[in-house]
Amino acid sequence: MLTRVNDISMYFEQKGQGVPVILLHGFPLDHTIWEPTVLEMHSEARIIQPDLRGFGLSDAPQGIYSMKQLADDLLGLMDALAIEKALLAGHSMGGYAALSFARAYPERLAGLALICSHASADTAEQQENRRKQADELLRLGPKPLADRMTPMLSADHQYHAEIYRIILRNKPTGMAAALRGMAERSDSTELLPAIDVPSLVVAGLDDQFIPVERARAVAAALPNAELVELAGAGHLAMMEKPVEVASALDKLVLEITNS
Ligand code: MLT
Repeated sequence: MLTRVNDISMYFEQKGQGVPVILLHGFPLDHTIWEPTVLEMHSEARIIQPDLRGFGLSDAPQGIYSMKQLADDLLGLMDALAIEKALLAGHSMGGYAALSFARAYPERLAGLALICSHASADTAEQQENRRKQADELLRLGPKPLADRMTPMLSADHQYHAEIYRIILRNKPTGMAAALRGMAERSDSTELLPAIDVPSLVVAGLDDQFIPVERARAVAAALPNAELVELAGAGHLAMMEKPVEVASALDKLVLEITNS
């Protein structure tokens, strides 16, 4: 479905009833990467999978998508769907957006799950790399990025064709704007002790983007978090280990229901 949120038309899918759970995809993906996990979830949950600004079937205006902008879009989506509080489960960049939401709108957060994500800001070198990648996207289109990132996202070849397809159908303007927004995001480490909602941190032990130590540090700093470390998973735990990720999310939904 499409709904108007701030200055964009935002696409989302939803199913089920119960605790609102918003599943946020990472960069440079879309809502479909959550599908394997959603199929394995059995809790009483209203599951919502948006395409973030710039990705999938949502609009991709030019500019810089700050993580606060992505958080504001989520707030707008929740308002449009009459959701007072939600569990936000963010994969990687989706986790950065969820942390920004937790900072700006703590009263609207029922729970937090960070999947292959972390709370640090970019180093100067990472920022520079992102800006180069943004320029490259606008100059050459998505293929060089897809060629480079696909094997890094998962070592398992069975996912490569699908990841490649998702990246290629995203718009270069949207991906470039998200890269620029990630480059300027602030560090959220100091915020973590104040996020006292039921939380979950999932780490893939073979993740080439987020070292497991980062995930462990985030879980240790969150007052109420479970840490799940998955052997055999890279940066796409929701695709690579859907049963395990779904069961950890189901447990979190239950905790929210009982809290
Ligand atoms: C993602 O998967 O969202 C990105 O790899 C995150 C990042 O580049 O920091």
